[in-house]
Amino acid sequence: RIIAIVAGGDSSEHGVSMRSAEGIYSFIDKDKYDLYIVELTKQKWEAILPDGARSAIDKNDFSFTDQGKKIIPDFAYITIHGTPGENGILQGYFELIGIPYSTCDVLISALTFSKFTLNQYLKGFGVRVAESMLVNKRHGISDEEVIEKIGLPCFIKPNASGSSFGVTKVKTQEQIQPALQAAFAESDDVMIEALMDGIELANGCYKTRNKSVVFPITEVVPKNDFFDYNAKYNGEVTEITPARLSPELTARVQQLTSAIYDILGCKGIVRVDYIITEGEKINMLEINTTPGMTATSFIPQQVRAAGLDIKEVMTDIIEDHFI
Ligand code: DAL
Ligand code: MG
Repeated sequence: RIIAIVAGGDSSEHGVSMRSAEGIYSFIDKDKYDLYIVELTKQKWEAILPDGARSAIDKNDFSFTDQGKKIIPDFAYITIHGTPGENGILQGYFELIGIPYSTCDVLISALTFSKFTLNQYLKGFGVRVAESMLVNKRHGISDEEVIEKIGLPCFIKPNASGSSFGVTKVKTQEQIQPALQAAFAESDDVMIEALMDGIELANGCYKTRNKSVVFPITEVVPKNDFFDYNAKYNGEVTEITPARLSPELTARVQQLTSAIYDILGCKGIVRVDYIITEGEKINMLEINTTPGMTATSFIPQQVRAAGLDIKEVMTDIIEDHFI
């Protein structure tokens, strides 16, 4: 089969996505599949050919030309973080042209990519989340209202973004408006979230028709104030897999990851992030439906810690669409 690893995208996470694409390229079994990385930007969609040359994608059928031959991928492994690959837009395109893809469907991609909407939705299923509110760029919000409704300290985050771009941990009133501006630069809607003090965890999971795999949990110990971009990609963090949790708490977190996967009807690999607060309370922080797959990302770490072969995981995910 021919697999397109679909990467890039229109957000600040473009570069991270290209690194995830290299990760996935190295993880997929080349004896079984022909691989092409396809880079999407607002301006152009291009397949990267084995010799490094580029071929424009025909958006009618996602085809391109390699050595005079028309190639139509059999499967799209989407590894765009942010728009348009993590929020349902590209999922809708692949539905339209009939190419199976690796991620959650349109609705669940869109739902999970709005942090605020996801929180409200999962609350209805008894999942604990931080108290939060949504603010639109057009309306803004006063310092007083932030303090009254959420209080300090708090997190101000773009509602639909990733890799901590535009996120500020706000401790004083003076920080509120600059934090809002930084977040609005990434997204028209901003979520203001009460700070949860505790241990940050990340837990990946994938399910197919005949397998249900919850990976070991990673514990995140940032060297900075929080798990920001530098912690995520410049090594300013200690990541411990499996997390130093009791067997009971480990099992509770993994069960919750599996339950959330089922509630949402996810597809492919998703990663649920949590904060464990006092009294071993498990708070869901967010879900990443196209989790980072760079060489140092959590998912490859967790697959290794589980003693699984990442090539098999990739094959499972692809082949599940061809049964
Ligand atoms: N948004 C980044 C890529 C992640 O969740 O891993
Ligand atoms: Mg994220």
